[in-house]
Amino acid sequence: MIRNVQTVIPGIATSDGAGVKLRRSLGGQQRIRLDPFLMLDEFSSNDPNDYVAGFPSHPHRGFETVTYMLEGHMLHEDHLGNQGHLKTGGVQWMTAGRGIIHSEMPQQVSGAMRGFQLWINLPAKEKMKAAGYQDIQVEDIPTVNLANGGLLKIIAGSYVTSGEMVAGPIGGITTEPLFLDVHLPIGGEFDHVVPEAHNAFLYVYEGELAVGDPLKAVPKQAAVVLGKGDHLKVKAGSAGAQFIVLAALPLGEPIVQHGPFVMNTREEIEQAIEDYQNNRLTAS
Ligand code: FE2
Repeated sequence: MIRNVQTVIPGIATSDGAGVKLRRSLGGQQRIRLDPFLMLDEFSSNDPNDYVAGFPSHPHRGFETVTYMLEGHMLHEDHLGNQGHLKTGGVQWMTAGRGIIHSEMPQQVSGAMRGFQLWINLPAKEKMKAAGYQDIQVEDIPTVNLANGGLLKIIAGSYVTSGEMVAGPIGGITTEPLFLDVHLPIGGEFDHVVPEAHNAFLYVYEGELAVGDPLKAVPKQAAVVLGKGDHLKVKAGSAGAQFIVLAALPLGEPIVQHGPFVMNTREEIEQAIEDYQNNRLTAS
């Protein structure tokens, strides 16, 4: 069964960090989520005033942040002294677990800065695990050339082509995420298995795309939530299309969020705030 469009969540212009301009679709309001996805931001600007201030030191607890750079260069540093250079095409998959205090700062003062930050929830039993990273450079992300001239980047999950399975570099995540970046030529079609138990959405960042059966045109720069089914089917319009596809297993657990802390109960949030105020957020 092909997944049709269920709802469209437009990306609303906002700013975060020290004034980085971005578009927030999922997570724009706390109830607008798609379990286990908590938030999706797209940042995209050629004007350094929109991004140079970056995201200075800030905490997280209870979930994962995934940053995918389409263009530009960001430096990530945390309280443990870890450093990661996120360059064009690279991905950082950061598991905050019980706590991380980090900064994410642009390493450029001109040119285009473009990409996504996605927040994915952790199951209750993993919210207090040790923080960890998977830093993936562009050359470690498998690319598949599609028969129609398009291309596919597999960041998480897998794709079967000519009977061979190509798997993305991200592994070991309980919610079994699928994260694809798909580029289609004019009129190019694409279909892909998205397991029935997964929640799924896509986000068109360039061009025009129609989704489902019958095909329905979807807006750009919006989280397009897909309904029930086991298959994704799309077709690019007259400008071609570039879009990301995200899917993962829902957790079905209560969510209590206070800014960068996402837990299951009010008490756990109060504990997170207290731990942060007493420099114990990241203590093991
Ligand atoms: Fe962060």
